[in-house]
Amino acid sequence: MNTTPDTQHIHPPAQKAPMNIVIVGHVDHGKSTLIGRLLYETDSLPEGKYDDLKAMAEKRNMPLEWSFVLDSFQAERDQAVTIDTTRIGFKTEHRPYVIIDAPGHREFLQNMISGAADAAAAILVVDANEGVQEQTRRHAYLLSILGLSQVIVVVNKMDLVEYNQNRFETISAEITDYLAQLHLTPKTILPIAAREGDGLKTFSEHLSWFQGQTLLGVLDQFEAQAGMDSKPLRFPVQDVYKSDHERIIVGRVESGGLNVGEMLTFSPSNVAAKVQEIKIWPATDTPKHAAQAGESIGITLDSPIFVERGDIASHEHSAPALTNVFRCHLFWLSDHHLIEGKTYTLKLGTHQVPVFVHSIDSVIDTQHLTKQDQTNVNKYDIAHVTFRSQSMLALDSYQDHRTMGRCVILDGYDTVGGGTISMEGYPDQRHAIVKASNHLYQVDHLLSSDERAARNGHKGAVVWLTGLSGAGKSTLAMHVERKLFAKGYQTYVLDGDNVRNGLNADLGFSPKDRTENIRRIGEVAALQSDAGLIVLTAFISPYRADRDRARTCNTATTFHEVYVKADLETCETRDPKGLYKKARTGEIKEFTGISSPYEAPENPELVIDTAQHSIEDCVDKIVTYIEGNVKLKALKTDQNLKRSTAGL
Ligand code: ADX
Repeated sequence: MNTTPDTQHIHPPAQKAPMNIVIVGHVDHGKSTLIGRLLYETDSLPEGKYDDLKAMAEKRNMPLEWSFVLDSFQAERDQAVTIDTTRIGFKTEHRPYVIIDAPGHREFLQNMISGAADAAAAILVVDANEGVQEQTRRHAYLLSILGLSQVIVVVNKMDLVEYNQNRFETISAEITDYLAQLHLTPKTILPIAAREGDGLKTFSEHLSWFQGQTLLGVLDQFEAQAGMDSKPLRFPVQDVYKSDHERIIVGRVESGGLNVGEMLTFSPSNVAAKVQEIKIWPATDTPKHAAQAGESIGITLDSPIFVERGDIASHEHSAPALTNVFRCHLFWLSDHHLIEGKTYTLKLGTHQVPVFVHSIDSVIDTQHLTKQDQTNVNKYDIAHVTFRSQSMLALDSYQDHRTMGRCVILDGYDTVGGGTISMEGYPDQRHAIVKASNHLYQVDHLLSSDERAARNGHKGAVVWLTGLSGAGKSTLAMHVERKLFAKGYQTYVLDGDNVRNGLNADLGFSPKDRTENIRRIGEVAALQSDAGLIVLTAFISPYRADRDRARTCNTATTFHEVYVKADLETCETRDPKGLYKKARTGEIKEFTGISSPYEAPENPELVIDTAQHSIEDCVDKIVTYIEGNVKLKALKTDQNLKRSTAGL
């Protein structure tokens, strides 16, 4: 028998990728001690460190202080050697771990939020003596925002409470209850005494009453983060290198992969071209045909489309959302308040763009998990904020993409906040913007709008009524139509409920469907006004962007936005169709004003306050406004008609 090992087939055990973890918790609950001791238990202390610690303890005649391990890392770090000194590693038989950032530093939060560091698991440390404290809750809340589901809670310093099981169970119950409200279920809650090393790798007899596994045992069972390879392609453009004969688009593939010959869509500009070549540095002789998540590459394209820093390349069928409004679960880091209406800089991957605070929707009280309607956002507050931009942004919600869905907010050059992006309640506007075909050619009419207007005696117009359900849009539109008709105008009402029974019968009330509803109506209204009619539209049309697009379907002077104003309370009291009641009981989902947003116009041509004025007054005001804008000459009213036909 041949006993010589077949060396050709012996491989070293595959080196597993390290798992990034964070250790969080209230100040002084023992995070640093836990880290020091974890390194010791896993033989990961730097050479000679243990002897140093021991010598120091002896010299001071004090117990060995594990947290000093971190101080030495901190010292290195203060000299700003490399960013890697913020990452402390240890290793079990199962895999290596990296503790991202030292605890207690606010950079941990910044890094987590900006996406500079991404943790797959977290250890939340609670002091057995002090129990759940303010920062315990705040940090737990951040873990939930960041979607970290692999969480271990350690009840530390059990030695200080004489390893009392009742004390452990009381704290377990308290933290379980809090986490449950955040929809977080910890993998385990276990008692430890980090300073003694108890519960990290083994349990001493003090904790023999505990039936679960040790901290390292549970950590080893966690799953590495789902690979970015399996996500849709996101290739944010870092730069474009131009030379005489080529333009190389460089960046890092954040997720997915791309191949030579594939068509890529660049957002937000929405231009597409095929990948001609993939380049890497230093260059190799073998041509590169494909690139995967994590690779920094350059690509050349088969056509000279305009691409700039900040654009995101993707495949067409899985492109990021296009929007000029989004929501942010914001963690505020600045000493100054966040200010509604103020313009900040949004840093989204490689992109920096001005955005302004449209609204501060709520501030979270992390102690009691209540939402407060206050508009003051103080340092370390967590708030729900709606941001708006002038230009279209290409974004992913955090729910869909953990890396791309994070953002940082700058005020000048200072980082003042960071958070996760949500598109809840808002549509992806890509569909409303992008044409399905490029091969379209405009055909001109042989008849001008002026000729039509001259015959009608008035110009065509779109009078766009917007407001909450129950604000009075349909009622006003129908009365205005009647009145205008009597005065000889060519007019027609497009009403939400009516149109949704026919042309838009396929649409519901999701943000996407509402946008499509308004897109179609915007186009139909523009056609009708081009045909010479005064079109009155009565749609909630809750999104500003949709109304702005409807405006651009028309010439500058033919679109008139009328805000039919009535506050939610008034509309709910009126509740003409009984829909608010159903919305409140949850029978109707995504109801405007209750569970779906309404964005009031900023600069409407006309505001009609139906809560303050009678229907007649409101109708008169609208009719007067319309006449002032569209009338050319005396019209054929019912009376004029009678007069002109009397002599026949
Ligand atoms: S829009 O938001 O897409 O502009 P639209 O004006 O067409 O809405 O339709 C609004 C009308 O549909 C309301 O007046 C109401 O009668 C009815 N409706 C039914 N479900 C909803 C809902 N979830 N939100 C708002 N209106 C609804």
